[in-house]
Amino acid sequence: MRMYGFLAVVMITLLAAAPALAKPIVIKFSHVVAVDTPKGQAAEQFKKLVEERSNGDIKVEVYPNSSLFNDKDVMAPLMTNAVQMAAPSFSKFTKFAPSLQLVDLPFLFDDSDHLHRVLQGEVGQKMRNAVGKKGLVGLAFWDNGFKQLSANKPLLLPKDAEGLKFRIMSSKVLEAQFKAVGANPQVLPFSEVYSALQQGVVDACENPLSNFYTKKFYEVQSDLTISNHGYLGYLVVTNKIFWNKLSDQQRELVSQAMKEATEYGNGLAQKMNQSYLQKVKDSGKTTVHNLTPEQRKAWKEKMVTIYPEFYDVIGKDLIDAAIAAGNQ
Ligand code: LMR
Repeated sequence: MRMYGFLAVVMITLLAAAPALAKPIVIKFSHVVAVDTPKGQAAEQFKKLVEERSNGDIKVEVYPNSSLFNDKDVMAPLMTNAVQMAAPSFSKFTKFAPSLQLVDLPFLFDDSDHLHRVLQGEVGQKMRNAVGKKGLVGLAFWDNGFKQLSANKPLLLPKDAEGLKFRIMSSKVLEAQFKAVGANPQVLPFSEVYSALQQGVVDACENPLSNFYTKKFYEVQSDLTISNHGYLGYLVVTNKIFWNKLSDQQRELVSQAMKEATEYGNGLAQKMNQSYLQKVKDSGKTTVHNLTPEQRKAWKEKMVTIYPEFYDVIGKDLIDAAIAAGNQ
């Protein structure tokens, strides 16, 4: 009888301990930029909120700086659920969902309010639907900022870019944009840009200031032009295998944390890029050039000639809707 009593106590203890022993759900979140960037900070905030609110039942492992995968390679493990989340720039979706190249179109957005109106409206929903058809779930749009041009010479007019090898993300729009000014675009993963610039594999690139500074491109580019010619932002995605396995409660918790992390990161983006501009100047290694209105107009006139090439791929309706949202 004493033996049965002992066994009962053991069973009760084990059952009570079971929830604590249950493995936490793990979200591997892969990205390619430094922690001290808008995306890096938003990812850390998301981790903090999810882990606090789930009492450790959901763990978020953030892998910055391409430490798990670079952007090109992350799509396959994301689809098979080896990675649960990533926040690639729109350009990196080109093969899966070509319409997302909308955001790459040069001189499309007047400012970030214009971009936000587009992403928060019907156009943004269509972009999320496009990745939904490929087994992914678009969770949020994260900001970085407007891109600036850099090289080892001042880029003041389009003719200054002629013949230069420009590193680009994997987007046909970006390829066409640089061809339009007589440059030679070359696709490279973000993790390889510094060494490619250092070794002269490419001569020039385009980046928001946070990426330019945190990846130390100012060490290998003597001139930076504040061109604000295009936008770089992200679509945070998970896959449906992972998403559908979560309980309703867990999905709600993750969605709410994502919403708050998005507000947090997007609130930081503009300020961060501004402060990195000062740091680039303070480095004393890169000369910063501001374009006159005439010079900026000259870049615009050349680059916007590519729009009709993408009416079919992106959808003329999406392009027109995005343009129209600028005059509100
Ligand atoms: C790039 O490849 O230049 C960007 O996508 C990097 C990033 O994620 O901001």
